[in-house]
Amino acid sequence: MTQIPAADVELTVYPDDCDAAGTVSHGAFLKLFERARWEQLGRGPGVDVFTREALWPAVRRSVLDFHAPVRVGETLRFQQALTHLGRTSFTLRQTARRMTDDTALATAEFLFVCIDHHGQPQQVPEAVGRFYSARPSSEPIDRITVNGVSLAIETRGSGLPIVFLHGFPLDRTIWRHQLDTLSGYRRIGYDFRGMGQSDAPDLGYSMAMYADDLAALLDALGEDRVVLCGLSMGGYVAFEFLRRHRSRVRGLILMGTRAEADSAEGRKARDGLVAKVRDSGAIAAAEAMLPRFFTSTVPGDIIEAVRAMILRAPVPGIIGALTAMRDRADSSQMLATLVGVPTLVVVGQEDIVTPPGISELMAAAIPEARLVEIPGSGHLPCIEQPVPTTRAILKFLQSLR
Ligand code: MLT
Repeated sequence: MTQIPAADVELTVYPDDCDAAGTVSHGAFLKLFERARWEQLGRGPGVDVFTREALWPAVRRSVLDFHAPVRVGETLRFQQALTHLGRTSFTLRQTARRMTDDTALATAEFLFVCIDHHGQPQQVPEAVGRFYSARPSSEPIDRITVNGVSLAIETRGSGLPIVFLHGFPLDRTIWRHQLDTLSGYRRIGYDFRGMGQSDAPDLGYSMAMYADDLAALLDALGEDRVVLCGLSMGGYVAFEFLRRHRSRVRGLILMGTRAEADSAEGRKARDGLVAKVRDSGAIAAAEAMLPRFFTSTVPGDIIEAVRAMILRAPVPGIIGALTAMRDRADSSQMLATLVGVPTLVVVGQEDIVTPPGISELMAAAIPEARLVEIPGSGHLPCIEQPVPTTRAILKFLQSLR
């Protein structure tokens, strides 16, 4: 049976982890991250999983972002996620959180190369790849390599296929309710390159690339024509897909998105956020986006889940997405041409990122498009008001039969 990574590892901070100021020092944090990795491997394939094959995982690159001080006596929870698995190398992202309030204290990314006694790169032991790639059965993910990048994907059910395209800087799990409940349809959710659990190359991000990844993914899944459901940045990807592969679109759902390109001011803001993310990591994206995502009545656990999702996003992927959005083409002229592409426009009534007025104009410009406004929702109706959102999607899908 495949072993599931024992999700999290808890470690307590002792005085010898701290500097004279009583906080965990940089070196000690590296050590704690390392201890958490071995601890987790020990609960799975064993701490000798490399030496059994006369190999060693050498760290080739490490990136460590500190978010808050950590003091003696605190217990930390370490989460590990595999973000890339190559032939001889793999990347682990780790997050350390304070047990008492779940605050993210530090995130780190380690690129390992497996080497033998001569320092020569060798294949990553199969047991390691299997261990880190395994997920609990409630999260049935798969991986498909397209255009040289391995994407995390989950598919459910059968029937008319609908592909869910997530927003920035999120991942496919924002569609959990829709993926779980839209039975009678083949639901396909995946993480864009650079997001979630997909590989995050340093370069190669553009709307064209995201759209071509999607086309290649559909080829791999054997799907010719699909319904696209894109939230915000996912909508930008849908527009680019229409530009490049229109005949493959059976229907279109545009959620909390816009057809216009970025204004000069918007492009400047993207560059500003790129600089901040380069400096401080994913937390800068969380700080920029989270306060604008939800209504004031959203439950705290939803905010925390989305915060954790953003903190898990790889820095190269966040920067890549920001530059791709900054440089995207204007799609407003396309709206009137969408004759024969059944379209539903959905927006949260309290969305301040893409206010309802934008969706109203967009729906009016698309021939025969329908508009649904979701009460009590901000920018992410699929998470904040999942039931009415899924219902609106279902009604639209039923109208396509
Ligand atoms: C998103 O939710 O995907 C972003 O808000 C899109 C954007 O920044 O334009």
